Amino acid sequence: MSQSTPDSPESSDGLGSRDSDVVSLLMRQHGEIRNLFDEVEQSKGDDRRDAFRRLVRFLAVHETAEEEVVHPFARRRLPGGDQVVRDRLAEERDAKETLAALDDMDPDDPEFLPRLLALRADVQAHARAEERYEFAHLRRTADAATLASMATGVRAAEAMAPTRPHPGVESAAANLALGPVAALMDRTKDAVRKAMGRD
Ligand SMILES: [Fe+2]
Ligand SMILES: [Fe+2]
Repeated sequence: MSQSTPDSPESSDGLGSRDSDVVSLLMRQHGEIRNLFDEVEQSKGDDRRDAFRRLVRFLAVHETAEEEVVHPFARRRLPGGDQVVRDRLAEERDAKETLAALDDMDPDDPEFLPRLLALRADVQAHARAEERYEFAHLRRTADAATLASMATGVRAAEAMAPTRPHPGVESAAANLALGPVAALMDRTKDAVRKAMGRD
């Protein structure tokens, strides 16, 4: 009995060691969001339109996942969690309004880029606040099983919005087929709940 096997799937083979931790996963998504902003800024015309669609969709599923998975936990378990979550939700609401306004704009409109840069600054301030006031505490407060279950929910959300275009797919048609962002958020919410056994 002296040599019991550690009951830790994360450490046994490294498989999923990064993605079984919801904080690492969300930090990686914050990095993806920065990359997608770069892509939109650095492209033009149809490429910019495509990159922007991917950014909008990825942001939509990222925020939906946080609303379903991270904020409820933070509200219940972190000191002052209620206020922390209220602040984050207000930031997310503002970002969604700007996104909707940008979504109706032609990306070649001279107003598009300044608005995009303003959104980027807001989204990054929001991400920093999450990392500081929620994620850091989450990692200390939640046990490994909870972090892993939350990661399952976030991965289910991520599957709804690929950050790379599918090769060979006509992007405008593909985007049309994917439908509006509000519907995507609803589907993401369902997917997260199902993945976490909460449906
Ligand atoms: Fe967020
Ligand atoms: Fe976030």
